[in-house]
Amino acid sequence: MNQRQGRGRFITLEGGEGVGKSTNLAFVKAHLEAAGLEVVATREPGGTPLAEEIRGLLLAVREEPMSDLSELLLIFAARAQHLARLIEPALARGAWVLSDRFTDATYAYQGGGRGLEVRVIALLEQLVQGELRPDLTLYLDTPLEIAEARLAGRDLDRFEREQRAFFERVRGVYMQRSAEPRFRVIDASVPLERVQRALAAELDLFVGETAP
Ligand code: TMP
Repeated sequence: MNQRQGRGRFITLEGGEGVGKSTNLAFVKAHLEAAGLEVVATREPGGTPLAEEIRGLLLAVREEPMSDLSELLLIFAARAQHLARLIEPALARGAWVLSDRFTDATYAYQGGGRGLEVRVIALLEQLVQGELRPDLTLYLDTPLEIAEARLAGRDLDRFEREQRAFFERVRGVYMQRSAEPRFRVIDASVPLERVQRALAAELDLFVGETAP
């Protein structure tokens, strides 16, 4: 088996807060590796030392409020660095890249949550990414109550402190975007074993379809 010929594939994992993205990211990586693929797992905002510094700026709770536009530009600044230094080189050498969040999160959080214009996000997306889009997006969906229960007791970052209405809008945008063919909606409110069975089934189909 050799799916490493040519360019690699770009898979993203999306979801609201407390949907179990980290646990499932490790599962997806292991599942792809078991199929003989080289997988580079990464995350946004972040993924390189500089982009991780920008992540720190984005998540920190501070006295001075961050303007919505500053937030958006920092996210795309981190993304430009991530693409140039990690994602593009990995795909070019044939590795598969698995990212915990990408630009769908920007449409959901900055577009839906903050209410920034989709047109502005699309403009930056085009500028920073050109034609690059994920080949497959696994969206982990849970009702907000379940996510809230999972977050209870944690130290909350700047996004996690938002109100429920913010996360309702985030989820609404993810659901709208899930109409795109690259999206797979995975019900993450069921026990982990079932979530992972659903993920494995989608991944097996995708790997089968993209094999040369
Ligand atoms: P995480 O919860 O996946 O670690 O992501 C950190 C936060 O960053 C999360 O609350 C969502 C937020 N975020 C955005 O608001 N826009 C984006 O484009 C990305 C990638 C993340």
